Amino acid sequence: MINDPVLLNDWHVVGPVNALDESGMMSARLLGEDIVIWRAGEQVLAWQDLCLHRGSKLSLGEVHGETLMCPYHGWTYGSQGQCVLMPAHPQQKPPTKARVKTYHACVAYDLVWVCLGEPGYDLPPFPEWDDSTFRRILCGPYTFKAAGPRMVENFLDVAHFPFVHENILGVRDRPEIAEYDVVTDETGITASDIDVFQPNPDGTGEAKTVTYTYKVFRPLVAYFKKESTGPRFAIIMMVTPIEETLSLMWMWMVMNHSYEKSEEELRAFQDEIALQDLPIVESQRPELLPLDLQAELHLRSDRTAIAYRRWLNDLGVTFGTA
Ligand code: FES
Ligand SMILES: [Fe+2]
Repeated sequence: MINDPVLLNDWHVVGPVNALDESGMMSARLLGEDIVIWRAGEQVLAWQDLCLHRGSKLSLGEVHGETLMCPYHGWTYGSQGQCVLMPAHPQQKPPTKARVKTYHACVAYDLVWVCLGEPGYDLPPFPEWDDSTFRRILCGPYTFKAAGPRMVENFLDVAHFPFVHENILGVRDRPEIAEYDVVTDETGITASDIDVFQPNPDGTGEAKTVTYTYKVFRPLVAYFKKESTGPRFAIIMMVTPIEETLSLMWMWMVMNHSYEKSEEELRAFQDEIALQDLPIVESQRPELLPLDLQAELHLRSDRTAIAYRRWLNDLGVTFGTA
């Protein structure tokens, strides 16, 4: 198990809850651990993906009602993780040691979240989730051969828009970043009033300046909303740290405009943005985000990133950082 109490005691997305619909089960890898996630009646459970008998993956097995059966010799586990049946010896009571390691799991925003330690933090808020005037589209997962904190920092960075997302999120002849505010408190980091000139910020074809507000709720969960007069667009992005330099990015995109566009079109837009970020973020060296502010050069326009690095350092996040 990794040595990062902050991320171990935090909630991480492992997949959409509807991935459990067909077989009742899915597998994931989180912070270097293989996990099986399965549905036992009303509950969603997350366990170490390992049978106590001969170490095969339980996620290759089958869900039967409120039990999970190993694919190899059919050992069957109840929802508490205890083996309740060894088919080769049906009369024999399974030893108490035949108990799978269990983790915490919950469902929020139609996603399954898992905590490998003892949950020490609330799930991040998602202000637009319950507002029916917003349509919502789940995007990803995008696989990055990169450290989670590098990906979050990229998400918080507006100065790359005119270059990496030229003519989509920014234009090359308007690259300046004006002053903006950053506050770090017990809710995380808030960067507000960031003006960005965009060629078509709300799908109407009209170029204008929009105002971004970013929030970093957790080390690997960040959010922004962008507003102009009327239309509002927001994204909550969640990184699943698989290994230190291998991560998934999930995004819920919500907006109160562009109802005429199909879900596929809107998702394709986000796919394009993610694909533009991918080679840049994967190329960054060092791969682990340096928390020592002397290690890279910073400008005033980087102050969200500076606040993020300071905050990770204060929290004591070590996985994916240097
Ligand atoms: S390895 Fe799971 S039942 Fe034998
Ligand atoms: Fe980007």
